[in-house]
Amino acid sequence: MDNVSFPENFSLGVASAATQIDGDCKTSNWYDWFKKGHVKDGSNPDITTMHRKFLREDTELMASMGIRHYRFGLEWARLEPQEGVFSDEEFDKIREEILLLREKGISPLVTIHHFSNPLWFEEKGGFLCSDNLKIFLRLTEKVVEKLGDLVSEYVTINEPNVYAVSGYLDGDFPPGEKNLFKTLKVIKNMGICHRRAYDRIHALRGKMGYSDTKVGFAHHMRAFAPYHANNPWYHLCANTSEYLFQGQISKRYLRGTTKDRGSYADFLGLNYYSRTASKGFADSTFPGVPVNDLGWEIYPQGIVDCCTKLHKMMPNLSIYITENGTADNSDAFRTRFIYEHVKALCESGLPVTRYYHWCFVDNFEWIDGFTARFGIVNFNTETMERTVKGSGTFYQKMIENKGVTAEMAAAAMAEVYPIGTHC
Ligand code: BGC
Repeated sequence: MDNVSFPENFSLGVASAATQIDGDCKTSNWYDWFKKGHVKDGSNPDITTMHRKFLREDTELMASMGIRHYRFGLEWARLEPQEGVFSDEEFDKIREEILLLREKGISPLVTIHHFSNPLWFEEKGGFLCSDNLKIFLRLTEKVVEKLGDLVSEYVTINEPNVYAVSGYLDGDFPPGEKNLFKTLKVIKNMGICHRRAYDRIHALRGKMGYSDTKVGFAHHMRAFAPYHANNPWYHLCANTSEYLFQGQISKRYLRGTTKDRGSYADFLGLNYYSRTASKGFADSTFPGVPVNDLGWEIYPQGIVDCCTKLHKMMPNLSIYITENGTADNSDAFRTRFIYEHVKALCESGLPVTRYYHWCFVDNFEWIDGFTARFGIVNFNTETMERTVKGSGTFYQKMIENKGVTAEMAAAAMAEVYPIGTHC
């Protein structure tokens, strides 16, 4: 079986988001969404893995597995519980976490916005309302003022397309709207936020005397393919979906618009999970392909295809896989998933320097609660105990070996993917 050697400068990390692991927050729109009954298994985001209480244990576990990069998100609702009132205590807690990470040799990549909002911001219209953008920028400045001496790398916004489509088109996420115009407006407004935040983070850290600042956004991209290769309508659907869901975002967020043409990233952040088979504008999957527990196609070549698209736009930038992972509740095929995706990246010749696995400890999976598990570490919801899974041990060994030995590869490829029946 094929072994894999990591290219020089390629390293592995793990990623998370505050709402999915921290718990202890009743002032966010996600707590409100849970209270309204939108989380399938009734899991409460106020509880989750209580990472903040298990900070030392989680960080030590991460370090013991050789993990040297950690992407994590901030909970805006805790940092600014009331409009314009920031909590020094909360920033101190985050500083404590970052200091602990640094002590263990783990470098932080901080996500400023990862899906959740303070309820007060949501009630003011969130990112839909152009007047509110300055509120996000004020938060950004506060974050840099408070953490800028410890953190050089930032993701401004996580997956603006998923945030906008899930919240304003599909209605699965708060605020639960179904309106295409609003969706497009949110995407546009978040783009403005990203570009302004990019400038401000650089300016502020520059004033603080640092020249090592790196800023990007985490773009969710899928591979899109026509359901039948020779059907022109399906081709049109694939191309249009590709453009609306991700192409326009890559262009505008990275390069600006006619009003602010420029360069708004120091790395290309990609979150990649799956491929969509297009035969309309809703997601569908090819029949008979490997799928995960949520029915998402497992398609490793797609990660390279998406990286290639980003790379063509800004060939001088390094690519960070800011998320990649899979829902596999019994950890039956995650090792193979990781192996095949990492292998595809390492063999692509593209300048991919980081791979952050989503996620570390099984977490609160938004509307799926704890029914979909993405972690390389198991979380026992009753005892809160963390146990490294087989895929976690594989991950640790990849880090140790700076690659995958033939023996590890053979074991990974012996895992069997479920086969989908959807169409
Ligand atoms: C999000 C994560 C989420 C993951 C798996 C990504 O779209 O950024 O928050 O847990 O997908 O669904």
